[in-house]
Amino acid sequence: MKKYNFSAGPAKLHPSVISKAQESIIEYENTGISILEISHRSNEYKKIMEEVKINLTSLLNIPDDYFILLLQGGATYQNTFLPHNYGLDNKIGCLITGEWSKKTFEDFKLIKDTEKITLEDSKIEKFLSEDNGEYFKDTEYLHITSNETINGIQIRDFKKINHPSLIVDMSSDLGSYKFDWENVKYIYAGAQKNMGIPGVTICIGDEAHLHDVKNPAYLNLKKLSENDSVLNTPSTFSVYILHLVCQWMVESGGLEYFEQQSIKHSNLLYDQLGSYSEKLILPVSQFARSRSNIVFNFVDNNFEKKFLSEAEKENIVGIEGHRSVGGIRISLYNSVDYEMVDYISEFITKFFKKYEN
Ligand SMILES: Cc1ncc(COP(=O)(O)O)c(C=O)c1O
Repeated sequence: MKKYNFSAGPAKLHPSVISKAQESIIEYENTGISILEISHRSNEYKKIMEEVKINLTSLLNIPDDYFILLLQGGATYQNTFLPHNYGLDNKIGCLITGEWSKKTFEDFKLIKDTEKITLEDSKIEKFLSEDNGEYFKDTEYLHITSNETINGIQIRDFKKINHPSLIVDMSSDLGSYKFDWENVKYIYAGAQKNMGIPGVTICIGDEAHLHDVKNPAYLNLKKLSENDSVLNTPSTFSVYILHLVCQWMVESGGLEYFEQQSIKHSNLLYDQLGSYSEKLILPVSQFARSRSNIVFNFVDNNFEKKFLSEAEKENIVGIEGHRSVGGIRISLYNSVDYEMVDYISEFITKFFKKYEN
């Protein structure tokens, strides 16, 4: 039975990715063995890694002197990993715009001297339009979360943050728009939203910011980079799925295509939801609204359960808000096509018609 999966992650994969993975589980490219059995030292796996890097470089326009690492531990591991590798003798700053950046700050501060500013979504537009360089001037690096998956808040224009060295958690929007690397020194993303399945974290950084540290192996960014992500056994199947997703993204038209798609889809739903302003609340100010995760609440809370149960009857899944905030969350990652958006939009129309009075 067909389901319409709008989950925030692990998220929907394009059907072509699933069918190629299915074939490769039986046998990977005439090797006589399954992709699940392939050695991370084999030529086949080395080729997969190389192709992932080539495709990521062209999709994301990664500068030549940046490294690409595929690590484990999810985005959450980065909260431990980063303060052991960046700003070693100096402070790190954290711009808190939602739940995920808050969690990062909570972890960073256990490890090193960390400065924070909490910015409500309604203040983001002003912050980005003024000279904000004063705020974190004593910090060597500034961590931000480009897309707050739980709160539906997004910052895409990194250049408007006047700090020379940004570290960006792009877990839920990497691959959905182009950005300038000028002041971005490191980005990371758990793959399970736009880029694949859990088990691999994409980490991309400026080689000039790799420091000699005396950390144990898996906490040592420089060592991991010198060993090209195979210091230990990588999550080979997750990397393979990332490879298929990158291929599909390139074939579909790259980031130009997905950026346009995400603008179109999110505008469509925000406009529609905005027209029911007496029935529902879009909590995020217009400027900071995420194109990846659309969140809303009902004015009358009783409608939330009704909405979720009726959606389920129509085979719409994955739209319950995060357990920490409730409400509804519709995630519009790259794999969500127009047919799906149209389907949920019609469902919303029908739902409000039914409960008009
Ligand atoms: C923006 C963001 N950061 C971090 C995380 C944590 O990711 P992981 O579960 O891979 O540790 C998530 C998970 O949804 C996220 O959306």
